[in-house]
Amino acid sequence: MERHIPIAKPVITGDELSAIGNVLNSGMLAQGRAVEEFEREFSGYIGAANAIAVSNGTVALDLALKAHGIGQGDEVITTPFTFIATANSVLYQGAKPVFADVDEKTFNIRPEAVLEKITGKTKAVIGVHLFGHPFDVPALEDICEDHDLFLIEDSAQAHSAEFRGKKAGSTGTGCFSFYPTKNITTGEGGMITSGSASVTEQCRLLRNHGQSSKYYHTVLGYNYRMTDIQAAIGLVQLKSLEQFNRKRIRNAAFLSSHIRLDGLVLPSKEPDARHVYHQYVVTTQKGCIDRDRFMKYLTANGIGCAVHYPLPIYQQPLYRELGYTNESAGCPVADGLAPRVLSLPVHPSLEPDDLQYIADVINRYEEA
Ligand SMILES: Cc1ncc(COP(=O)(O)O)c(C=O)c1O
Repeated sequence: MERHIPIAKPVITGDELSAIGNVLNSGMLAQGRAVEEFEREFSGYIGAANAIAVSNGTVALDLALKAHGIGQGDEVITTPFTFIATANSVLYQGAKPVFADVDEKTFNIRPEAVLEKITGKTKAVIGVHLFGHPFDVPALEDICEDHDLFLIEDSAQAHSAEFRGKKAGSTGTGCFSFYPTKNITTGEGGMITSGSASVTEQCRLLRNHGQSSKYYHTVLGYNYRMTDIQAAIGLVQLKSLEQFNRKRIRNAAFLSSHIRLDGLVLPSKEPDARHVYHQYVVTTQKGCIDRDRFMKYLTANGIGCAVHYPLPIYQQPLYRELGYTNESAGCPVADGLAPRVLSLPVHPSLEPDDLQYIADVINRYEEA
């Protein structure tokens, strides 16, 4: 039988199915008891005082920025090497995303690069814990304190990642996604975590049409609510998160100790970091391996792979249209990484022989 190893695969069991059945039978389907319980469990797990469940990770970022009062004329510094939602959430506010370059090894935003981009208009920094590797939260926290900026932690890819023992999303305002490829899923879904009572209150208000009491609306809000069906799935998934992450970490360790190919750089991890391997991202060295040819070879051998991300955000057509250029963005590391990165399967459904197969196929590769 031909082998096919997908790049991602959510783990869904009978427990999720029976939890969904219970919700359907309860008659309370949206923003009810299961949502409240999911918020409680999630905030406790992350170590944040509050959690606000929303319909997806994009609106988590949108609400977080709104709750911090980001608006027209403001600048928000973020990484160009991330999923588009991170930067788009800034555009939603009529504010300007300003890009700070990333570290070649961790792919994460560099605190020194953030410092260079601060102006009188800067109001916030959005760091992204990319691929499950936490960024240096204490360094960015210090910068934000010194310059009176809000820190948003885009933790969409980093459920239970840690930096110096502190979980992603427990320092700044955390924004999580539960999209199916993520370390835990609710189908679609998102969560904001916050230590601030006023940010939490604002997020809750905005999530539900600015409704302060039944049919009494004080501000322009939205329908960004989570359903109880999503929350019930999330509660089951949260119980397995630690086990899923341990499996991802073990799978990554196996790949890193078995893949040996000249010109292929394997992922690295900072000593202070707990990397939860949302993605296992390798980098091809210029002049040694052609990334796209290597990708075709893997695909032909049944190994799912993907490019996260083919373009730094300022190179996306939308951002070109807005006037961004490589020169104005000034992020040479991100420019150099985008054509060379490749994600390999690392998800918890992989079997030992899948991992061995991936390593064997890669080790046999010969550049034409
Ligand atoms: C880094 C990052 N930020 C934000 C998001 C947006 O989350 P969602 O797809 O749930 O809207 C994602 C998810 O794809 C992401 O990877």
